[in-house]
Amino acid sequence: MEKPHIEKIDWKNLPFGYIKTDHNIRCYYKDGKWGELEITSKEHLDIHIAATCLHYGQQAFEGMKAFMGKDGKIRLFRWQENAKRMIRSAEGIHMAPVPEELFKKAVVKAVLTNKQFVPPHGTGAALYIRPLLLGTGAQVGVKPSAEYMFLVFVTPVGPYFKEGFNPVNIAIVRDSDRAAPLGTGHIKVGGNYAASLRGIITAVNAGCGSPMYLDAKEKRYIDEIGAANFFGIKNNTYITPKSDSILPSITNDSVMAIAEDMGLKVERRPVPVDELESFDEAGACGTAAIIAPIGEVHDLETGKTIKFSKDGKAGPVSTSIYSRLIGIQFGDEKDKFGWTEIIG
Ligand code: PLP
Ligand code: COI
Repeated sequence: MEKPHIEKIDWKNLPFGYIKTDHNIRCYYKDGKWGELEITSKEHLDIHIAATCLHYGQQAFEGMKAFMGKDGKIRLFRWQENAKRMIRSAEGIHMAPVPEELFKKAVVKAVLTNKQFVPPHGTGAALYIRPLLLGTGAQVGVKPSAEYMFLVFVTPVGPYFKEGFNPVNIAIVRDSDRAAPLGTGHIKVGGNYAASLRGIITAVNAGCGSPMYLDAKEKRYIDEIGAANFFGIKNNTYITPKSDSILPSITNDSVMAIAEDMGLKVERRPVPVDELESFDEAGACGTAAIIAPIGEVHDLETGKTIKFSKDGKAGPVSTSIYSRLIGIQFGDEKDKFGWTEIIG
């Protein structure tokens, strides 16, 4: 894709998509150790035709954001959690993990060498950071690669759902599973996203923004909402699923702390899909999604619709949590949890 002139970027109306930036950062693992970080402006990789990432999905990625404060300073949000999760993802599919410090160095370099692409404060947009770990060694048998590549690119983004912070409709899909209970749903590896595509297309074809996956074994409990965790609110309680096949969301973890701080009770437990109608508010949360309030849930099998938003707006609790979260991320609110780090 052609690089748009920076002055032509419409920061307030950015979609969640790819815009070319100036540099990406790369690092190679060979002979049992990681090399030096390299900066490049190339958008393509030269990769072996038998690389394990291409054939056997030996790859993991992360998603995080850098935010421009009113003070002109760039903040990273809880990068340590992304670094740790990428280590868990690597170990989960037998890849060489990226040490936390190397992860940070690459992320900071990727942001600071593309500083002019960090969206201005007040636009609601942020710089999305995509760390990526690939098995690059040639194998034809199914076994782990001996060589890896770690790459970080960035791109300015707006909200994941075109609705922004307005209610999005969700479809319960039962004809495909994203992840198995003892599979890889709890780590961030590409195979999960390949497996989720059928559900996404089913949901989109039903006129919805995202699918709701149920647990693969019994189809009784709520797992996730596309690439985001689910939450429901009732009786002054924030309720979110506990399941072995969902990705432990850093946003959700932050939201649970904020909810508790706001005086809500927090419950992390299996959430039966039948409980949906009892919630006053429901939503999806994740780095890309931030907090997306749910308007309606359509059960594609039974034809039933559960409505959360009566006036086309987000509920009061979701709205307060959202304001608090983005307030901390953009540096507009006191960061009492110590989640943000100024990097430039
Ligand atoms: N669930 C899935 C499947 C995801 O891909 C993501 C995005 O990373 C999330 C949940 C939200 O996680 P986080 O808040 O750490 O971005
Ligand atoms: C994120 O929220 O960062 C994600 O990774 C979602 C992405 C798969 C689009």
